[in-house]
Amino acid sequence: KPVGLDATKLQITKTTNPKEPHDPKTLVFGREFTDHMLTIEWTQTDGWLTPQITPYQNLSLDPATCVFHYAFECFEGMKAYKDKSGNVRLFRPDKNMERLNKSSARIALPTFEPTALIELITKFVKLDERFIPNERGYSLYLRPTMIGTQKTLGVGAPGSALLYVIASPVGPYYPTGFKAVSLEATDYAVRAWPGGVGDKKLGANYAPCIVPQLEAASRGFQQNLWLFGEEEYVTEVGTMNMFVALKNKETGQKELITAPLDGTILEGVTRDSILSLAREKLAPEGWAIVERKYTMKELAEASADGRLMEAFGAGTAAIVSPVRKISWKGNLVDCGLSDQEESGEIALRMKGWIEARQYGDEEHEWSYVC
Ligand code: COI
Repeated sequence: KPVGLDATKLQITKTTNPKEPHDPKTLVFGREFTDHMLTIEWTQTDGWLTPQITPYQNLSLDPATCVFHYAFECFEGMKAYKDKSGNVRLFRPDKNMERLNKSSARIALPTFEPTALIELITKFVKLDERFIPNERGYSLYLRPTMIGTQKTLGVGAPGSALLYVIASPVGPYYPTGFKAVSLEATDYAVRAWPGGVGDKKLGANYAPCIVPQLEAASRGFQQNLWLFGEEEYVTEVGTMNMFVALKNKETGQKELITAPLDGTILEGVTRDSILSLAREKLAPEGWAIVERKYTMKELAEASADGRLMEAFGAGTAAIVSPVRKISWKGNLVDCGLSDQEESGEIALRMKGWIEARQYGDEEHEWSYVC
């Protein structure tokens, strides 16, 4: 009968050709990889086979493999950090495991024991820990990936799968410092819809988003803002969740707002961390922390009234990404930053609070020591 994922069976084949880690200063996101990779094959009849750490290498797949035809692929983004005592730490890895299982199950791929994969990832990152830069703002980006590997053009549940993890040393998202971006609200394409799969981390959700992003870039905007429906609800920014800080029109109450998890919003780990930190640290300062639908019109009105304090994207890659302005219906909506500012206060404080837990400056249950 099929067996579960068993970390104790791990086999390790080390590279005979170790390479020098890349100079951290010139790292480009996702271009460099470590010496090894973690792979675990799954078959319907046997379940999870022996986990392997091997030298980083090409995959060999038949051209008929179902991942190439019907997009049986899902992934995660998470990071390993080096703390000041030299320990390797993961940040809330249980959240990524939970989400990968949800994504995988949605596309008829297998699920796995979360603690077993965390243990395997721990062994992998410790083996390649010399690739984790020490400096603040640097980390090892981990990319757990699951693909359907059955060789068939038949449309059905894959009878075999491959779960693998690769690791890429990364620097601060903005090497020149924290820079606010300008957005173009996309009204001619939608990223996700009710009953769809926009809340799952499927590769198939990302490819169709590039053209709108290029369109925005051609008009001088770094990212696009995803709206939904006739109401023009604000949903996400590029590949990130979106937050806005504004003063309530009626009461003047300061509110930190993000869209609710209604099935059209990716369940970001950074999103969840920001909400939790906001409830812990901003609510006592008088902020209301609100998960609700909000519209582009509402933002434009708040901006015109001088009530829009700041807006920022939130994701694993950049942590937070402040927004300067949003192009919408031929107008530029100012998001509360002065010309000299690259970030609002909330985004900046959030970044600091999150990094303190990621790098283990603050001992916290979110930080997992490998
Ligand atoms: C993020 O961390 O914001 C992302 O989702 C980007 C990743 C797909 C590279």
